[in-house]
Amino acid sequence: MARYLLTAGPTMEAIDPVRFLSNRSSGQMGYALAAALVARGHEVCLVSGPVNLSTPEGVTRLDVESALEMLAACEAEWPSCNGVFGVAAVADYRPRAVSEAKLKRQAGEDLVLEMTPNPDILATLALGKGSRLAVGFALETHNAEQEARRKMSAKNLDYLVLNGVEAQGAEASAVELFSQQGSRHPLGPMPKARLASALLDLILGPNNTSSHA
Ligand code: C5P
Repeated sequence: MARYLLTAGPTMEAIDPVRFLSNRSSGQMGYALAAALVARGHEVCLVSGPVNLSTPEGVTRLDVESALEMLAACEAEWPSCNGVFGVAAVADYRPRAVSEAKLKRQAGEDLVLEMTPNPDILATLALGKGSRLAVGFALETHNAEQEARRKMSAKNLDYLVLNGVEAQGAEASAVELFSQQGSRHPLGPMPKARLASALLDLILGPNNTSSHA
């Protein structure tokens, strides 16, 4: 039995006390993986952005909103985990400053929002992972395979799951699993719960233990 850290859902980046920037991630794939890991007898610490999903039984869930909060929660849990699945759709940028007061409309004037890059949570964890398992997800519209392989090595991942755009918010999905060793495995289309289980069969192997520590 191992303990896995899993990020899921979107992040929510505040603009002012009432507005934010976010994305369309529903969190379904991450939650399905969390449930599938528990079903295999593993412990799961799920660091979740705002989603409309109930916590799978047996999963420890930490709710966060922004990428910075997600990173802090993950860094606190990572030392006690054997591997990480980065399924969250982390916002690439956040507003440089969060206005304390609600922004007012200025008639006829453009509003320019300055954005600053968010840290890469999965890369931050995986670059210092040692022999622990790190799995990422990516959604690419162009040069998908090349981008998948580039991200896998830039972030020091053992596996990368490539999603099609149609996966967003959908019940079912088709993916390709790339491994650092060079393998490529298409899966689906199938419901996300079955897909989660099929991915774990390939990643954790028939003995349900990754070859990573
Ligand atoms: O956004 P990108 O395609 O680079 O995401 C690939 C992987 O990296 C995903 O697993 C995602 O959860 C993770 N990621 C992250 N922090 C970011 C951006 C991406 O953990 N700031």
